[in-house]
Amino acid sequence: MDQLVIRGGKALSGDIRVSGAKNAALPLMAAALLSEEPLQLTNAPRLVDVRTIAKLLRFMGVEVEGDGTPNIRLCAQNLTRPEAPYDLVKTMRASVLVLGPLAARCGRARVSLPGGCAIGPRPINLHLMGLEKLGATIRLDQGYVEVQAHRLKGARIAFDFQTVTGTENLMMAGVLAEGTTILENAACEPEVEDLGRLLNAMGANVEGAGTATITIHGMPAVGGASHLIIPDRIEAGTFAIAAAITGGDLTIHECQPAHLESVIAKLEEAGVRIHSGATTLRVTGVGRPRAVNLRTHPFPGFATDMQAQMMALMTIAEGRSVITEAVFENRFMHANELLRLGADIAIAGNTAFVQGVPKLWGAPVMATDLRASASLVLAGMAAQGRTVVSRVYHLDRGYEAIERKLTTVGADIERVRA
Ligand code: EPU
Repeated sequence: MDQLVIRGGKALSGDIRVSGAKNAALPLMAAALLSEEPLQLTNAPRLVDVRTIAKLLRFMGVEVEGDGTPNIRLCAQNLTRPEAPYDLVKTMRASVLVLGPLAARCGRARVSLPGGCAIGPRPINLHLMGLEKLGATIRLDQGYVEVQAHRLKGARIAFDFQTVTGTENLMMAGVLAEGTTILENAACEPEVEDLGRLLNAMGANVEGAGTATITIHGMPAVGGASHLIIPDRIEAGTFAIAAAITGGDLTIHECQPAHLESVIAKLEEAGVRIHSGATTLRVTGVGRPRAVNLRTHPFPGFATDMQAQMMALMTIAEGRSVITEAVFENRFMHANELLRLGADIAIAGNTAFVQGVPKLWGAPVMATDLRASASLVLAGMAAQGRTVVSRVYHLDRGYEAIERKLTTVGADIERVRA
């Protein structure tokens, strides 16, 4: 198992490039299931999660070429096995994104229930409620969800609360349903909007993706398409905090600052200097940041996927920061590891009270999930001395070549095999 050995205390400076968005790439790849014709995706990130969904799609009979490169070609002409086995789903919850397209295209699907994960229980009840509204019959059998439907029928689906992959699943299902599907209180994340763009390029008729009401006029079939994946806003935000936490000066290229407004606003409130261009972000850290309070929220609010990284920054802030995690139930696993680096954090329920300290000190720490790992790398870069982050496989799921990118701009990070 790989570890990252970080020698902290180096200010980062220079130019760093953002890859394509993981959380856009996964639903876009699942959308290939809707059509017999090929899908060409460019700007794909080279990530373990992308390879996992490629593996899952191949298992179903989809031809996938180029996963592990920025250009992925998928063709689901022959869907032989509309099934997602437990072994693949358990390593990546996003595998559940095949449920909607399979139900729509094949009229049946058998997908393992994802089960618990490190950031909370994460049920899929809203995905299933939506499919039932579209006329599917759902049965649970030995840990699998079995969906049956002759042809899905458009319906009005109002979500109790916003779910990103739930919205994406039902959007894809609606594309091949008979009649019109209206999703209310839909997730507004840029990745949902990107999926809407791809579906329309395939010939679907989707209106309002990226807003709270999405209307999908169903049709019997859709074709192939070529599509450029949007930049990863969470990777860009992580780099912004890397500049801030090391007192550095980074220009982040190929990002979309419009997707990062709430992160930019919080960093500015903390005293970090930010200059946004059309596709660039220059971030300059000046001394210790000021403590700021924040609460996670669906887009355009402060993303839960940036909470751990922001907490790392707040550990060295002047003053006390109150961070409330309102999207997931149990997403503070990084806090205990940050304590090992000398941070002062108290947790009460879904709120973390972070009293800034002047300095962090290197120590061995353990990554527990993807964004928690990123926060430990950030804290390690700010800490005095040597930090060893173990269980780096979490990081590799969602950050492309992170140590190479950060090393290029002055970090001292080495990957070693433990
Ligand atoms: N929820 C339910 N029932 C459902 C669906 C969701 O109770 O049927 C709850 C969840 O347990 C959670 C909340 O609703 O408390 C929101 O979850 P959501 O469904 O939006 O999350 P997701 O779609 O499973 C995606 C991202 C996550 C990101 C969240 C929130 C992908 C592949 N994953 O997950 O990304 O944290 O939205 O923005 O898009 C990550 O990249 O590190 C990551 C975890």
